[in-house]
Amino acid sequence: MMPVADIIKEISQEEGNQVKYFEDLLEKIKKLNMMWKVLLFAFVVTTVQGRYENVNMKQDWWETAIFYQIYSRSFMDSDGDGVGDINGITSRLEYLKEIGVDVAWLSPIFKSPMHDFGYDVSDYYTIQPEYGTMEDFEHLLRKANDLNIRIVLDFVPNHTSNESEWFIKSSNKDEYYNDWYIWENGYLDEHGRRRPPNNWVSVFRKSAWTFMTNRDQYYLHQFGEAQPDLNFRNPVVVDEMKNIIKFWLEKGVAGMRLTSINHLFEADKDLYGGRYPDEPLTGKPGLGPEDYGYLEHIYTKDQEEVYDMVSQFRDVFDAISIRNNITRVMMTDANTNIKNAVRYYGEGIHSGAHIPFNLALVEDLDRDSDARDIKYAVDRWLTYKPLKKQANWLIGNHDKSRVASRFRPELVDAFNMLVLLLPGIAITYMGEEIGMINGFVPWSETKDPQACNTDDPVNFIQVSRDPVRTPYQWNNGKNGGFSTAEKTWLPVADGYEQLNVANQRSAVRSHYQVYRTLTNLRIRPAFKYGRYESLALNSDVFAFKRWYNDDTYVIVMNVGKTYHVVNLTAFDLVFGQLEVEASSVLSSRSYSDNVQANYLDLTADEALVLRMQI
Ligand code: GLC
Ligand code: MG
Repeated sequence: MMPVADIIKEISQEEGNQVKYFEDLLEKIKKLNMMWKVLLFAFVVTTVQGRYENVNMKQDWWETAIFYQIYSRSFMDSDGDGVGDINGITSRLEYLKEIGVDVAWLSPIFKSPMHDFGYDVSDYYTIQPEYGTMEDFEHLLRKANDLNIRIVLDFVPNHTSNESEWFIKSSNKDEYYNDWYIWENGYLDEHGRRRPPNNWVSVFRKSAWTFMTNRDQYYLHQFGEAQPDLNFRNPVVVDEMKNIIKFWLEKGVAGMRLTSINHLFEADKDLYGGRYPDEPLTGKPGLGPEDYGYLEHIYTKDQEEVYDMVSQFRDVFDAISIRNNITRVMMTDANTNIKNAVRYYGEGIHSGAHIPFNLALVEDLDRDSDARDIKYAVDRWLTYKPLKKQANWLIGNHDKSRVASRFRPELVDAFNMLVLLLPGIAITYMGEEIGMINGFVPWSETKDPQACNTDDPVNFIQVSRDPVRTPYQWNNGKNGGFSTAEKTWLPVADGYEQLNVANQRSAVRSHYQVYRTLTNLRIRPAFKYGRYESLALNSDVFAFKRWYNDDTYVIVMNVGKTYHVVNLTAFDLVFGQLEVEASSVLSSRSYSDNVQANYLDLTADEALVLRMQI
C-alpha cells in the first residue's frame, strides 16, 4: 500500500490533468483506514477543485492535438529499396506513441512519377507502388487506430502529374477531359514563332506554360512542368476533387491537408478580353524573367474564388464527420500574407478550414531573429486570427531548413517549447524532436525539382529542399537505421552516428527527453485551455505565460548568445519561487530545481519551463 505522504506528494506534483490518474488515486485511498480516507479525500477535493474548475470545457479531439509530419519517403524503409514506405511507417507507430504525438500527417503517398516526390499525383485513388499497397495502408490505419493515433493525408488539388490519365486524355482532346486543365494557344511573335500566352512564371522558375505538340497548345503549370494545373472553373473537376476527399475520409483517415490551396484559381480571362493578363514586375534587384520573384503574383494566387471553393470542400468534411459522428479535419496550406492566411478560417457565409496552416514561424523567423521578432511573429498571428478559432504552430516542414540549421542546434529545445506550449495545435516536422540538422546533398545527387530547375551547380543549395528531406535517423547502424539498402534515395545526413533516436533515448538529457517532457506537460489544463501572455524581456529573452485558474507557467528562452539576468515579475501575478518543469539540454538546471521570479540568470541558449509555486 502506498504511504500517505507519497500520495500527498503525488497529488501535489502530478496534478495532472488526467481524470484517470485521480481515479487510480481514489482506488488507493479507498484501501486506507477511515481517518486517512476522510482527510485525504478533503485534500484531494480542495487541491483538485481549484485547479480543475471548468476542466470539462468542451474541446474536440483536434483542437490541442500534436500533429507529426512524416515525410513518407524518408521515415522508414521496410523493404530495403532505399525508399521509405507505408509498412515502414506502420512499424514505427509505437515511436509516435512514445513521444506523445496524437496525429501522423503523411506527405503524399498517392501514385506519382515522383518528379516532385508525390506532390505530382498521377492517380489519387491508388497508393504509390514503391510505398506499398492499399492493404498496407489499411493495415496502417488499423494499427494506428489501435494505438489511438490518427492519420491525416496530404492532398494536392491544384495540379496533377503530367502522367495522370486525365492529363493524357485532356492533351488528346478527349471529349470528357478536354477542359480539365488550362489550355491556351499562345501567340505568334514578329518572327512568326510561337510564344507562351503571357509572362507567368512557375514557382519552380521558368515559364508557367509548356507546349504540347499533340494538342498544339500550351498548358499552365504553376509549379513544375510535370505538374499541370487543374481547371477549377470546370464543375466536373470540382466534383472529382470532392469525390477524392470522400473516398479517403470514408476509408478512415482523420483528415486531409490541402496543399497550395491559394493557387487553385487564376484570374478569369473573360474579364480581360479573353487573354490571361501579364503579371506586373516586382522590380526586385538581381532577378530575371525566369525567377518566380520577378513578378507580382496578382493573377495567379489568392484569387477571390478560392474562399468559396474551400467552403465547398469543408462541406464535404462536415457531411462525413456528421455521418461518422467524429470530426474529420480539413487543413489548408497557403503561402500568403497574413490577412489572406486567416481568411482560411472562414468568414461570413463561407466556412473555412479547421486548421489553416500558420507559416509565421516558418517564414518570418531566421538566424537573425531575436526575442522581439519571436514575440511579434507569435502575437501577430494571434491578433489576426479570429478570436474563437484555434491557433496552430509549426516551425519546420519538408520545404524549409531545419531548426538546428536555420537557427542553431542549441536552440532546438527552445523552439520545441514554443511550438508545443503556445495555445492551440502543435505541428512537428519529423526529426525536429531530436534536433536533426540539414543533410548535405551535392548537385550530382540533387533530386528536388526546385533545385534542379536552377541549372546552377553552385547556387542550387539556396533553394534545394533535399537537405531537410534526408532519411530519418533512428540509430547509429547502417543508413542510420532507416534502410538496409546499399544506397538510400537521398544520403543520410552526416553525424547520424551521434544524432539519432537510440542515443537520445538512452541519454539522461537529450532533445528527445525534453520533447517527451513537453508533450506530457501539454496535457495540463494551463496548456490545453489556459490563457497566454508574452513579453520580450530584452532583445534576447522571450518569455510567455500560460495559466489556468491558479496554475501558472512561464516559459522563458534566451535566444541570444550572451548571459542575461531577467526579472519574471514583469508578468502580472508572477512572483516568489518557480519550479523547473523542463530545461534545454545544455541548461544546468533540471526538473524540480527552484528559481526566483525576480532574479533569474540565464546562459546563452538556455530555455526553461517554469511553474509558479503557491
Ligand atoms: C506544396 C508542398 C511542396 C510542393 C508544392 C507543389 O507547397 O509543400 O513541397 O512542392 O506544394 O505541389
Ligand atoms: Mg521501401
